Amino acid sequence: MPSLAAKLHLKNIQKVLSMALSEGKTSPEKINYIAYTEKPGLIICLQIGKIVAETFSLYLNKPLIPVNHLEGHIYASLINKKEEWEFPALALIISGGHTQIYQLNNHLEFTLLGETLDDAIGECLDKSAILLGYNYPGGPIIEKLALKGKNNYKLPFPKNDESLDFSFSGLKSEISRLISKEKENINANNLACSLQHILAEILVKKLKKAWVIARPKTIIIGGGVIANNFLRNHLTKNIKKWDKEIKIFIPEIKYSTDNAAMIGILAYYKISY
Ligand code: KG4
Ligand code: ZN
Repeated sequence: MPSLAAKLHLKNIQKVLSMALSEGKTSPEKINYIAYTEKPGLIICLQIGKIVAETFSLYLNKPLIPVNHLEGHIYASLINKKEEWEFPALALIISGGHTQIYQLNNHLEFTLLGETLDDAIGECLDKSAILLGYNYPGGPIIEKLALKGKNNYKLPFPKNDESLDFSFSGLKSEISRLISKEKENINANNLACSLQHILAEILVKKLKKAWVIARPKTIIIGGGVIANNFLRNHLTKNIKKWDKEIKIFIPEIKYSTDNAAMIGILAYYKISY
């Protein structure tokens, strides 16, 4: 509901700004750069952020830095870390709107290797939760249900196995078919657990394909879906099986879902490189 989202952005942006200044123990005069999310996202909300950032930048006479939301998810993995990435690096983004694999041969050099051909992974989780009668966001609900469930629903693996692209719409259709068929007999805990398992296997398989091609020294995983503890553990465990020495960078849970700190740290790297 874009109009509702825009209304809430307008209502809250001033509150968010003053909270950020007070929690950051700073004031507008001490700020040297203004970064904002340029794209991708809901255009009407992005515009509100842009106008506020432009106003700040003009008023304070400080440079404005437009930042890409998805690149921000990758750089979120460097927040509060002493260690640095080693290149080449592979980055997997798993969010509500995107599922992508990038190669980085250096800071800020992003080459897209693969992406979803239909639904994003987060969309698959969100739509499955809605089909089970829950609200958005579905990912945390599926994670909670899965804790009490078993991996005993046979869900289909996507067919486009040879490429680095993803496809989640078949999985979503199968979940919808199962829920319509079993109705009140559906075991939501088991279905959630089975969904998490198949998603984890799909991610591992694609990431391994990309790893074989790129032989990276670092693997980065970002985006709201990596707030999921099962996926964090499953992916880390598997990557370590391919290469014990590889560096794995995953943001802290609070920096995995959308946040402004990731936009700030990416702006820092944009200024520095
Ligand atoms: O990156 P993000 O915060 O927003 C977008 O850019 O889309 O990602 C939101 C997505 C939603 O699909 C949400 O259900 C999912 O991340 N998500 C999770 C968890 N927390 C958020 N998925 C699985 N487990 C979670 N704990
Ligand atoms: Zn996001």
